[in-house]
Amino acid sequence: MSVRREIINNNEEICEFKLYKYLGDALPVVESLEGLIRELNLIFASDTVNIELVSYVMKAYKSNPLDWKKYAKFNRYRYTRNLVDEGNGKYNLMALCWGEGHGSAIHDHANSHCFMKMLQGSLEEIRFAWPKTEGEELEEIARTRLHVNEVAYINDSIGLHRVENVSNVDTAISLHLYCPPYNRCSVFNQNTGQKSACNVTFYSIHGKRVKGREPQVPEDN
Ligand SMILES: [Fe+2]
Repeated sequence: MSVRREIINNNEEICEFKLYKYLGDALPVVESLEGLIRELNLIFASDTVNIELVSYVMKAYKSNPLDWKKYAKFNRYRYTRNLVDEGNGKYNLMALCWGEGHGSAIHDHANSHCFMKMLQGSLEEIRFAWPKTEGEELEEIARTRLHVNEVAYINDSIGLHRVENVSNVDTAISLHLYCPPYNRCSVFNQNTGQKSACNVTFYSIHGKRVKGREPQVPEDN
């Protein structure tokens, strides 16, 4: 285990300890994706986002393909975004399906919170600092491999990132929560830092394919 991974794990333990201290027996138990959605709806009834608690419940859900297979819709050329739940308008929960070798562009998160949990396979998350000078290559600041059930969190104050399924043989599926929801963000050229706006759309909604909707390049989230 790398030093960085150990630091992350220690942080997770400290966060869990803090949650136990404040919530005790009230800490939610999550037994299914449906149960996770119920807990998330309760948590997001409040106007403040408790990052530790959301991370905790997303991690507490143990991935079960029977729960999410209806959202697992792949495209051979590009990763797909499949809406699972609208969170009463407060957040979007979606399953992202990554074919072998599929990856995103480098992107920001439109001032939203972004939680990402692995449901199947593994993904590499590469983080970058925001560009400082025009025309300069983006600086990589962290690289983490996420495995089944692990949860990552990012927002614009932490930096930008790119997500990749580096496997040539295995697909990957991740569950993403964005709060507040957004349909437009920025993507960045790694070599020049140049920024461009991009729309984000859904490949399927509640398990049903959106007609005529092919994933666009450089669509991202
Ligand atoms: Fe992202």
